[in-house]
Amino acid sequence: MVLHSVASFNSFNLNLFNLIMMQSPRGTKDILPTTINAWQQLEGIFRRVSSLFGYQEIRTPIFEHTEVFLRTIGENTDVVGKEMYIFPDKGGDSLTLRPEMTASVARAVVQHNLTASNPLQRLWYAGEFFRYERPQKGRYRQFHQFGAECIGSSSPEADVEVILLVVKFLSDIGLKEFSLEINTLANSEVRTRYRKKLVEYLTEQKSSLSPESQERLEKNPLRILDSKHPLDRKAVESAPTILDYLDNESAEHFEMVQHLLTVEGINFTIVPRLVRGLDYYSHTVFEFISTALGAQSALGGGGRYNDMFEEFGGKHTPAVGFAMGIERILLILEQTNPTLYRQTTPDVMMITIDKESYPYSQTIAQTLRSAGISTVMDVQGRSLKAQMREADRLGAAITIIIGENERTSGKITIKDMQSGVQETAGQENIKEIVRKMLSLSY
Ligand code: HAM
Repeated sequence: MVLHSVASFNSFNLNLFNLIMMQSPRGTKDILPTTINAWQQLEGIFRRVSSLFGYQEIRTPIFEHTEVFLRTIGENTDVVGKEMYIFPDKGGDSLTLRPEMTASVARAVVQHNLTASNPLQRLWYAGEFFRYERPQKGRYRQFHQFGAECIGSSSPEADVEVILLVVKFLSDIGLKEFSLEINTLANSEVRTRYRKKLVEYLTEQKSSLSPESQERLEKNPLRILDSKHPLDRKAVESAPTILDYLDNESAEHFEMVQHLLTVEGINFTIVPRLVRGLDYYSHTVFEFISTALGAQSALGGGGRYNDMFEEFGGKHTPAVGFAMGIERILLILEQTNPTLYRQTTPDVMMITIDKESYPYSQTIAQTLRSAGISTVMDVQGRSLKAQMREADRLGAAITIIIGENERTSGKITIKDMQSGVQETAGQENIKEIVRKMLSLSY
């Protein structure tokens, strides 16, 4: 009796285990062939736009020493405090799956002394990032970003350059539903002065803040400004804003950013409560927002970070950059630009009537592929009818039927699937004829 219940308990657990093991982990997603085309197109456009602005790609490891993120993003941020995937490796080092790329890029720039050969580094990246967040629409535990960093300039021109890069990218992918919000977090003296005033003000309101923000008041008071909690929103309504405390340097920098954006006809809104969730920013911060996204409305964001390189033992190197959330961009494009999702279709499907014709059919397929014409053939020994159905399902532009007649006569019939037009070719001119038919059918 006891044995029996242990056995059934185990088999229950085993089923549960199998069920869990058959799902991707919570907050992660498989990118299937049905959507890969959209991903690849976005990547291609981001690569092209980045190089239009003179940026070069950088790739860094997916994990770093935990310290890389602790020192830069800040211990009191949600990202470091709650969301990092930290693990010890077998040698006892503490490693972390990267939650963002800016710190890794700075680490790599210092490690390889990149600014020695060229003091201005323009770098872009695309990749996967990891944050242990509560998953919801537009928020995942493994997600993807495109980003760029302009390293080595303290000028407002560099801030605007990276914003213009984003605007060009969004325009080239046909995404119009966004707005640009900007703010300044000034230099550290201004921030310290402002933080003091803000804490004084919020301490008076402490009892009306959300429990989370009551805690933040000690550790990270600026974050209370962009809290979404209704209690906090109300409490910060009349809080002092940093814009009232700017010194000349910070004010001039921010005004120049606005001027340069205006010259380019870029619409923006100044949002004095925009502080961003990472501690490394000074001066300009910005976010691209879309109302089409619901709660997770930030398509991307970034800003200036002038003090990160010293953390890695490098010399003072002002920098500015941004990152865009690819999943969030795709959530919008799914609705507005479905052509992006069109799957790639083969140019040609070989229809092979009998087993003996297979080698001949294969040779023709190889001839076409060598000419850059994508060609698929049946590898399951299916009937003529089934192969024709498959050509239809795949959306092949052309079919070529090969049987005993074609094999022995060397005359091959090529059919344009859309118009039904047929042409006959020999092995020597088949590439030219297929190419001609393809150019007519596209
Ligand atoms: P971030 O605001 O933390 O900035 O992330 C940039 C974008 O990544 C967000 O606006 C959002 O679109 C996307 N994102 C962030 N977390 C998630 C998530 N859990 N699921 C889906 N998408 C997400 C940074 O990462 C900075 N490194 C940007 C930067 C570059 N600043 C200067 N240079």
